Parts: sequence; structure tokens; C-alpha cells
Amino acid sequence: MKSTNITWHEAQVTKEERQKLNTHKSAVLWFTGLSGAGKSTLSVAVEKELHNRGIHTYILDGDNVRHGLNKNLGFSPEDRTENIRRIGEVSNLFVDAGVMTLTAFISPYREDRDMVRELVNEQEFIEIYVSCNLEECEKRDPKGLYQKARNGEIKGFTGIDAPYEAPANPEIIVETDKQPLEKSVEQIIHYLEVNGYFN
Ligand code: ADX
Repeated sequence: MKSTNITWHEAQVTKEERQKLNTHKSAVLWFTGLSGAGKSTLSVAVEKELHNRGIHTYILDGDNVRHGLNKNLGFSPEDRTENIRRIGEVSNLFVDAGVMTLTAFISPYREDRDMVRELVNEQEFIEIYVSCNLEECEKRDPKGLYQKARNGEIKGFTGIDAPYEAPANPEIIVETDKQPLEKSVEQIIHYLEVNGYFN
């Protein structure tokens, strides 16, 4: 913490009042998994479904955020941690704004994801493990990056020569190597419905 002499200023509209106006709760749907597992595809499909139901949404996506806010970060363990810390803080602001926030970052370290979980209230962090075996991710290789990592053109690629720590206790697991996209979308929407995030 470098800033000193700073004071928190309360607003007159609370998160609960914003949620009431929106007629739904806000939370972060934290998608985590290997590159190519389907995090971005799934977040886009879930957002569309939520939007159709009148829910206010926003997606924060790794590749996109790294073009702007986080363009000064690379893929060292320290930079990945900082990437997730910033996105955690941004997600917290979006949740405070009353928005159903979807994030699609590899977020390979358990400790970093738990740090974000601690930032928001209980029930506001929904960890979704987008599970897909490495072989299938490599077969999909939508950006040709696994190929590059195997050729040694990219060093420290997640799943090849950098770690991925799968969640120990995620709220939801979707197995994209075993079921079609629609089934995974359904699974997530169902979770939100039965847990009272919207009617
Ligand atoms: S994270 O590890 O810090 O959470 P993030 O989700 O932001 O990663 O970015 C991952 C995306 O960056 C991948 O989908 C891929 O397109 C690209 N990428 C480039 N280099 C790497 C790398 N060394 N490891 C993983 N992904 C990489």
C-alpha cells in the first residue's frame, strides 16, 4: 500500500439498492481453466442467456483486458498474480455496481483465486472450473499457441511448462471435453436460478 492520507467516502446509494433497482443480485462468475478449455466461449454464451433474461452483465476477458488495463503485464508468476489481483478489484467494483460480472482468465494459481474470493462477500464469488483435458485443449489449439509452446517459441505456457492448479472446491464444474456448450450454459444458469440470484 503506497497511498497514505486517504479516506473512504461513502455514497448514498448502496449495492443492495442498486440490486433492488435491477431486480437481481450481482456476483462474479469466475471462469478458470486451461487455455482452450472454453472459458471465453462459455462466458459469451452465458452472458447472452443472462442478457436475454433482462440481467445486467459485463465480461472481463483475459486476452481483452491484456490489451488495455493490464497491457504492462506478462506471464511470469508475479505478473499473473498481479493480473488476477487487478481483475479481482475490478470485479468487486462491478459487483458493487450491481452487475452480474463474468471473468475469463486462466487464473492458474489457487491462492490468487482465493484472494479474489476474500475480496467480495460470500455468495458473490462463484468459481466455475472449466475442465478440459490438456490433450483436447491442444487438439483445439484455437490460437496455435500450444504448437508454439511445444516448439519452444513460447516459454512458460500454462499446462506445458507452467502450472495450472485446478480448484479444490469450485461452486460449479463444467466438463467441456465431455458435453456440448449448451449443456454447460444450462448448468450455470440452473445454479444461479436455484441459488436465488434471479427469478
Ligand atoms: S493468466 O494466467 O494471467 O490468468 P490470462 O487469462 O490473462 O492468463 O491470459 C491467457 C491468454 O494469454 C491465453 O488464452 C493465451 O491466448 C495468451 N497467452 C500468451 N502467453 C501465454 C502463456 N505463457 N501462458 C498462458 N497463456 C498465454
